[in-house]
Amino acid sequence: MIVKQICCIGAGYVGGPTMSVFADKCPDIKVKVVDVNTNRIEQWNDEDVSKLPIYEPGLSSIVSRTRNKNLFFSTDVKKAIQESDIIFISVNTPTKQYGVGKDMAADLKYVEICAREIGKYANSDKIIVEKSTLPVRTAEAIKDILENSQSEFSFEILSNPEFLAEGTAIDDLISPDRVLIGGDYHTESGKKAIQALKNLYLNWVDEDKIMVSNIWSSELSKLVANAFLAQRVSSINTISELCEVTEADVKEVSKAIGMDSRIGSKFLNASIGFGGSCFQKDILNLVYIANSYNLPEVAEYWNQVIHINNHQRRRFANKIISRLYNTVSDKKITLLGWAFKKDTNDSRESSSIYVADHLLNEQALISTFDPKVSEEQIYADIDAVNSRTEIENRTLLTVYKDPYEACKDAHAIAIMTEWEEFKLYDWQRIYDAMSKPAFIFDGRAILNNEDLIRIGFKIYTIGK
Ligand code: NAD
Ligand code: UGA
Repeated sequence: MIVKQICCIGAGYVGGPTMSVFADKCPDIKVKVVDVNTNRIEQWNDEDVSKLPIYEPGLSSIVSRTRNKNLFFSTDVKKAIQESDIIFISVNTPTKQYGVGKDMAADLKYVEICAREIGKYANSDKIIVEKSTLPVRTAEAIKDILENSQSEFSFEILSNPEFLAEGTAIDDLISPDRVLIGGDYHTESGKKAIQALKNLYLNWVDEDKIMVSNIWSSELSKLVANAFLAQRVSSINTISELCEVTEADVKEVSKAIGMDSRIGSKFLNASIGFGGSCFQKDILNLVYIANSYNLPEVAEYWNQVIHINNHQRRRFANKIISRLYNTVSDKKITLLGWAFKKDTNDSRESSSIYVADHLLNEQALISTFDPKVSEEQIYADIDAVNSRTEIENRTLLTVYKDPYEACKDAHAIAIMTEWEEFKLYDWQRIYDAMSKPAFIFDGRAILNNEDLIRIGFKIYTIGK
């Protein structure tokens, strides 16, 4: 099968970067990214690439060299469906906020809308690729919708989950650990579809890194990969608490266990808890699926990963309160970092939101600075928690554009995100302008304790 054009429905953190790399690596193929969010599409089309809706190292240069050559951003979903041989679905699949499965199951309404639109508009046979993270057996539902769409054309459904991490998305896409393609390899049409998608990746990915599986294994592997990664973070975070009471140092423990090649050194950084739009959502989904198959022990095992994450966030906020003499009322506390990790402007489910909320409930005055997250987004995040009115949030939480202003007169500073620039600040200047005693709560263990203690700071470091 010769593929001339592909499209992706959903121009978000996955759709945008993924399709940019496809366009860059497959110059003979036309790539279209479509979205219902006109504002987002306008940002993707902004001539000034510093205004793209997503900050991701390396992304703007790829967009600069491919956009309007073989990469196009548009709101015309119908046209994109009609023109494309392969259609990727990369829409959001958030945790359901209503009805059966509320707060647990993935909300598949956006995926379903895409399936219905494909059924309605398709004017030739199509390969449909699930790029969104979906519960195991979703392809069955998509197939059912398409088969009942009265379309005269046939559709082959593949699962091709995305494993990129934000902040390193471009590198992850260019050099993936693996590409997983799930499909019906027992039928001729299934084999052809798998090969067509594989051929796209073969433009830059070694064949031995492309794994083909049945569709259910592929859907489930994506949830399991995220669950395993999150489990490591929760595991090391439990050990950080133990280290704090035993005078062990979690960094040394991580290093010692990570040197065992069976354990490996990655994902062993203790923190204020994992954030991001996916870990919690995908584990809740896994728990929901296990429960729905009546596997309560499996569900409870994975639920603990979330339970520990919430505990770690609360524990960090409570540590700030207890060290500040058990009251933070009217004290200025500066949170450095709002993004859920460095090198992204994404703050979805960031631990900063929950720590800020906890401290605001204790009547603290919160200041914050993040190199990439906008003021508008920070207020939207704290409003979404629904603990206070919007007016109260704007009175009690101040967003600064300058880190030194953010730290001025503060009683305490908390490091929430591991941005490299925080290590390079003039900490003497910050200390001089703070209320005394001046406290630092390093939730990412990135600062040099000895230097800061010499300056006069009182320091708490996670896991130390
Ligand atoms: P996102 O919210 O950034 O983007 C999704 C986009 O889809 C939005 O812009 C939305 O407007 C658009 N959309 C929704 N319904 C639509 C429709 N019917 N037609 C056209 N556009 C529509 O989400 P994301 O972070 O890109 O995640 C997308 C999926 O990929 C999720 O399932 C997620 O779990 C998965 N995933 C995300 C990451 C990540 O790092 N963010 C990594 C791997 C997998
Ligand atoms: C994660 C996975 O790493 C990707 O493979 C996956 O594709 C993606 O989720 C997804 O499905 O959305 P992402 O959430 O972008 O990627 O970022 P991670 O690097 O995994 O970090 C997640 C959270 O865990 C961050 O808050 C990070 O600070 C935290 N973390 C990570 C730790 O606290 N300690 C660690 O050692 C590693």
